Amino acid sequence: MENIKAYVQKNKERFINELIELLKIPSISADSAYSQDVLNTADAVKEALEKAGCNTVEICETPGYPIVYGEKIINPKLPTVLVYGHYDVQPADPINLWTSPPFEPVIKVTDKHPDGAIFARGACDDKGQMYMHVKALEYMTTNNELPCNVKFMIEGEEEIGSSSLAWFVERNQEKLANDVILISDTGMISNTQPSITTGLRGLSYVEVEVTGPNRDLHSGLYGGAVANPINILTKMIASLHDENNHITIPGFYDKVQELSIEERAEMAKAPFSLENYKNAFAIEDVYGEKGYTTNERNSIRPTLDVNGIWGGYTGEGAKTVIASKAYAKISMRLVPNQDWKEITELFKNHFENIAPKSVKVKVTPHHGGQGYVTPIDNIGYQAANKAYTETFGIPAIPQRSGGSIPIVALFEKELKSKTILMGFGLDSDAIHSPNEHFGIFNYLKGIETIPLFYKYFTELHS
Ligand code: BES
Ligand code: MN
Ligand code: MN
Repeated sequence: MENIKAYVQKNKERFINELIELLKIPSISADSAYSQDVLNTADAVKEALEKAGCNTVEICETPGYPIVYGEKIINPKLPTVLVYGHYDVQPADPINLWTSPPFEPVIKVTDKHPDGAIFARGACDDKGQMYMHVKALEYMTTNNELPCNVKFMIEGEEEIGSSSLAWFVERNQEKLANDVILISDTGMISNTQPSITTGLRGLSYVEVEVTGPNRDLHSGLYGGAVANPINILTKMIASLHDENNHITIPGFYDKVQELSIEERAEMAKAPFSLENYKNAFAIEDVYGEKGYTTNERNSIRPTLDVNGIWGGYTGEGAKTVIASKAYAKISMRLVPNQDWKEITELFKNHFENIAPKSVKVKVTPHHGGQGYVTPIDNIGYQAANKAYTETFGIPAIPQRSGGSIPIVALFEKELKSKTILMGFGLDSDAIHSPNEHFGIFNYLKGIETIPLFYKYFTELHS
């Protein structure tokens, strides 16, 4: 594959422009106002897969947004790689913090990306990373370099919990049969130090509602005598962590897999600067569970965070009022062996238990999913590592991530195969935040590296 580099160089303007076109469509799955855009994006992905050389591409209907499925089977005796990605994106708000409109992609230079980065919602998560696979396929088919079979499954509901994909996978085991699943929807350490994500956290997402009096009340006439649901909710939330920042829900840690001293020492070898980390967020100190390092806190330890909280008067000026209701959205990131449904139950029981009689509490579970760990002694990991070693000049470091792709655990359960997470984003790429971007270097390097994964996986498989 000597000419992959040359092929990327020759076609890079077109590769960038094609991605820019895809990024212009606001495929926000969470907001029904964009449903036509989500559907249009599925069509665009279908067309791109056809052009890249798939034999068949279908738009598979589901109870929700469709799944784009494509394949190129060259020989049933050869191994099959199943590529997964998502064409939906997060909402763009707060819009006013973007330096350029989220769906009008532009290339700008940053500290981390001297060669420029494409700024747009979805640039890194996940349209840009998904599209690397489409262009890698184009390279392999046009140059007769595809060494095995390939299937693509690109969904439109990852950012809202992948429930239609779960439905689809359960019904299509045979169609989706594969030897390895390949995903680029995570990150790597830096542009000079590649890494392979070997773990993802699970997730339990809940919404809580606290009701005090049956209507909003004058805070002078009733304040101090009737429970204020906002006061109560914040007190309840504060009690969910103790002074060591341990989570206080009974049973929460029962199944948490503790890492050995050796594993923790191995993890600590990954390059990391606490100074740079603090500077990136303009914080004087980090914060978290006692007894664990920053990198452990955000990968091998479970967490509980309020994602949003509201209630009462938030308009201009002052209004003296005791609101009838207060709300919060809470996410818990889970680690291997914690079961997300069990944790959701534990949360619900505990939250109901700690509420004083003067309020009513309602806990509504949203989505969730199990965590995932990949062993590094399988041929998928080894093939990925060989591919990175070749294109970056140094081996990749295994790294557990704090993020979640809940469907990966379901893939293992239903399709019985391991997932290899070849992410090319950087933590600083601002996914889910204003000014999301994806480095041109990362995009092109991904396109170069992926065909080598196919080559080494096929070699190691035989
Ligand atoms: N691609 C991310 C997950 C991710 C990013 C994992 C970086 C590791 C490193 C994915 O699109 C995502 O945002 N997942 C959600 C979960 C989902 C159920 C909404 C998350 O992690 O919050
Ligand atoms: Mn993603
Ligand atoms: Mn995401």
